[in-house]
Amino acid sequence: MIILKSKEEVAKIASACQIVAASLEALRGYIAPGMTTKELDRFVEQKIRDQGGIPAFKGYRDYPATLCISVNEEVVHGIPSDKVIQEGDIVGMDLGAIYDGFYGDSAITVSVGEVREEVERLIRVTRESLHAGIDQMVEGGRLSDISHAVQTHVEAAGYSVVRDFVGHGIGRSLHEEPQVPNFGPKGRGPRLREGMVLAIEPMVNMGECAVEVLGDRWTAVTADGSLSAHFEHTIAITKEGPVILSKI
Ligand code: MF3
Ligand code: CO
Repeated sequence: MIILKSKEEVAKIASACQIVAASLEALRGYIAPGMTTKELDRFVEQKIRDQGGIPAFKGYRDYPATLCISVNEEVVHGIPSDKVIQEGDIVGMDLGAIYDGFYGDSAITVSVGEVREEVERLIRVTRESLHAGIDQMVEGGRLSDISHAVQTHVEAAGYSVVRDFVGHGIGRSLHEEPQVPNFGPKGRGPRLREGMVLAIEPMVNMGECAVEVLGDRWTAVTADGSLSAHFEHTIAITKEGPVILSKI
């Protein structure tokens, strides 16, 4: 786990996160029905490189692309392909970048064209649950206060949180200690301290929480075929409270 100590370290991780944020914002403006997920991957890889960053996911274990793109019942880790984006889809886009040895990681879910009101609600509740978790990132709190706040918000809305994937520490590696589940009782785990950096990433299913991994060994889908949404930010804990480094 990283504990940020110097201004230089803060500036570098902030730059990595801002490269991710600007690239995701560009994707949000670019995505349209008829595009393939591979075209979106190519577009966003160029955005990262134009800003002096390096894609963080490509070559992580055997992941083959810059972007994780997860459509409808896909939960996370969808691999860019010839799949065509359709009007009415919801699309999770998860992106990581490295800048000067530091990592940034963030994800958004967007609707393409018109979707049903209940689908917009799933996206909204998932985004809200991320911010409910972030609100717990204060010095002296406990790690599982974050987990509990996410779960409580999601379940109050009638949805379920995915258990099989979790948030994580981030800094000089993409995945550092500690793991940050999106469920659990409050008051457990390490104390939250100034300088810690966490990637919080709720994955929320409209139906049951169970997921399965497809034959490509990456793409996670809901077991019941229900829709799923995902948001993620990289956040630093400071004396003044949480600072969302990947905020647009
Ligand atoms: N945000 C995701 C995570 O932290 C994306 C990782 S994709 C991978 O797990 F390809 F890098 F594994
Ligand atoms: Co992550």
